Amino acid sequence: MSETAVVSVTVKKMLDFAIDGVAMQAEDGQTVIEAARANGVNIPHFCWHPQLSVPGNCRICMVEIEQESGDPWFDIACNMPVTAGMHVLTNTEMIKTLRQDTMQFITLNHPVDCGICNKSGECMLQDYHYELNGAASRSRDPKTHATKFFPLSDRIMLDNERCIMCTLCVRFTNEVSGSKALGAVNRGDHALIRPAEDADFNLDVYSDNVIDLCPVGALLSTELLDHARVWYLESTRSVCPGCERGCSIDVWHRKHEWKLNALDPRMNTRIDRVTPHENPEVNGLWVCNKARDLAHLFERPRAEQAMQRGVAADLAVATTTAAQLIGAARKPVAIVSSWGSNEELSAFHAAFGAKVPGFVKADHLPLAGEIIEDHLLIKPDKNPNRKAALALYPALPERVSDALPADMDVVLVWGEGFDSALIPSGAKVIRLCSYAHADNAGADVFIPISVQTERSGHYTNFAGVVTAFNACFPVKPSIAHAEALFAALSADITAGSSA
Ligand code: SF4
Ligand code: SF4
Ligand code: FES
Repeated sequence: MSETAVVSVTVKKMLDFAIDGVAMQAEDGQTVIEAARANGVNIPHFCWHPQLSVPGNCRICMVEIEQESGDPWFDIACNMPVTAGMHVLTNTEMIKTLRQDTMQFITLNHPVDCGICNKSGECMLQDYHYELNGAASRSRDPKTHATKFFPLSDRIMLDNERCIMCTLCVRFTNEVSGSKALGAVNRGDHALIRPAEDADFNLDVYSDNVIDLCPVGALLSTELLDHARVWYLESTRSVCPGCERGCSIDVWHRKHEWKLNALDPRMNTRIDRVTPHENPEVNGLWVCNKARDLAHLFERPRAEQAMQRGVAADLAVATTTAAQLIGAARKPVAIVSSWGSNEELSAFHAAFGAKVPGFVKADHLPLAGEIIEDHLLIKPDKNPNRKAALALYPALPERVSDALPADMDVVLVWGEGFDSALIPSGAKVIRLCSYAHADNAGADVFIPISVQTERSGHYTNFAGVVTAFNACFPVKPSIAHAEALFAALSADITAGSSA
């Protein structure tokens, strides 16, 4: 750009306004609820969402607008733009009364299911009932009943009695996922959320986001249903490895203080659920269902025992043998994982960069029927860190024999997705893998390594954004962390060559 070039920057006009007597500023065009949030003030809301259209149907966000002369007026904060000089009152006696009345109306037919409801502990209706109402129902009429446990899809169960008809779920499928798979039928207290007749909610690969969006316990994950109460769980910040997008997620698992001693101990170290972690640079507020299903990926049968030619070996002995094989090799080759973290890749490169040529493989390919790429998040490479691996090593050529010549004598295979039959006969094989596989016993040295939920690190996504993941569970002593293993192998090789 020349020195005289003019950079065009759009500067948004700012408006002065006030909430409850406190002077604030809002961007021109912001609604009262948006400007309030931007200034750290939360106005109650059910049907409003920052990334969806505004139906204005729940009325819980009602605020009072003070006028210089004349009576104040009332309006919903989610649909009212801020104007210069506006004074918004959120806590007057009239507003408190209006909110109590609104809560009475919204809970009119809502069942008192809290003791058995999966949303209990993170339900906005519970929270606002205590905060804004707290009184028993004024109604003397019996509640209108509706369908319990209506299957919206194979993954999501709907309890119509708990639904407060905020329509967040409907708008999500119309405006974000694009499946248009949900709609509302009937009116008033007979209104029901139902699947659209000309769509299939099973085909919406973002469907589980509606479970998080639902402010009440109307939309239930069939996987989590009756599985764990949320107050027994805690979350760990992580990254979905399902594709090169690397969406930020929270992995939910049992709190240490609530660990179960009497039942199956695996319940203490399993993934109970996965939710999106907001990351504007990567995934915004959403994830696809592949992230929700990470338990199925990580909780496959594990490899937990080091082996030498199929015979159980001590981890330290197997490490020394692997170092001896690499140290003595004339023509070694490494097949590098695209699921290793940035730290593991650096450690691998530091350990073997000068001595062992490496080639990056895809540990995972798209599954049959899996969406390759779409308009929202899903990317074609189903590996989380191939970009970082390719910054250090070239890709494994399509003709694998170009990388593995017949005269190579040692091959180190790191991770899944490589067919051992492609290794020239006569070459010694060192295999590092987390999961049980027939090839493990066939290797000269097999070393089990930890999975993502047992270690911390970073991935670099397709766009170069680096995101951290953290350990959720302890690793067994018989399993190595790859980063430490590479450092140990390097030290053993150096010690061996200088001996
Ligand atoms: S099911 Fe939940 S998200 Fe959908 S309309 Fe009812 S309350 Fe709202
Ligand atoms: S888009 Fe990719 S990274 Fe994001 S949740 Fe889906 S599979 Fe995981
Ligand atoms: S949040 Fe404003 S009407 Fe529902």
